[in-house]
Amino acid sequence: MIDKYFDRAAAEWDQQEYRLNRLKVIARAMEREIPLIKTMKGLDFGCGTGLLGFSLIDKIAYMTFVDTSEGMIEQVRLKAERDYAGRAGWQVRDIVAEGLEGCFDLIVSNMALHHIPDVTAALTILSRALNRGGYMGLCDLEREDGTFHGEGADIPHPGFDVDGMESLLSSLGLEKVSTTTPFVNRKVVEGEEREYPLFLTVFRKN
Ligand SMILES: C[S@@+](CC[C@H](N)C(=O)[O-])C[C@H]1O[C@@H](n2cnc3c(N)ncnc32)[C@H](O)[C@@H]1O
Repeated sequence: MIDKYFDRAAAEWDQQEYRLNRLKVIARAMEREIPLIKTMKGLDFGCGTGLLGFSLIDKIAYMTFVDTSEGMIEQVRLKAERDYAGRAGWQVRDIVAEGLEGCFDLIVSNMALHHIPDVTAALTILSRALNRGGYMGLCDLEREDGTFHGEGADIPHPGFDVDGMESLLSSLGLEKVSTTTPFVNRKVVEGEEREYPLFLTVFRKN
């Protein structure tokens, strides 16, 4: 099962240079597109080890980290207790099944949505938890042909059609701020280098 995969991967998740560099680029892109304010309460959804949330935490007041993987949240707990006491909270939670506690001025997510079967349900819950004036920044794969994760991977969405994602967010009452391409993954498939762009779409709740 997917949680077991992430539980196993958690302890070594931050040891991949490529992943850390990609995260830095995405976090800088979020800082460019979203006005971060010291009073904001943030949520990093599908946070993994918290790479994205911890990159932004110094710009806001408090960051909550949510993930279904206990192993991933354990890594968040270790970092939070060591470096961010009183400024971070964490929950092992499947928001689609259990809902979400609290309201946020900032909701960010990186590479988590394509793992969630019912994305409409997840985004409905997230948009309801966003305060008026708050920002949602979602980064994920653009639609691909399934080769990014490779054969046998248990992935409900081979990326997303960006127009479709924007329409869904608009239908939830959010207003588009921007959509950019902060990063392009590169991978050799059958001897050829292929590109797998990531989109970053930022919406605001008025
Ligand atoms: C590819 S990892 C990305 C982790 C992190 N955002 C990063 O960029 O390093 C996807 C994460 O989504 C989490 N996830 C999958 N389904 C989820 C759900 N329904 N609710 C919350 N988190 C979920 C997984 O446990 C995993 O940690």
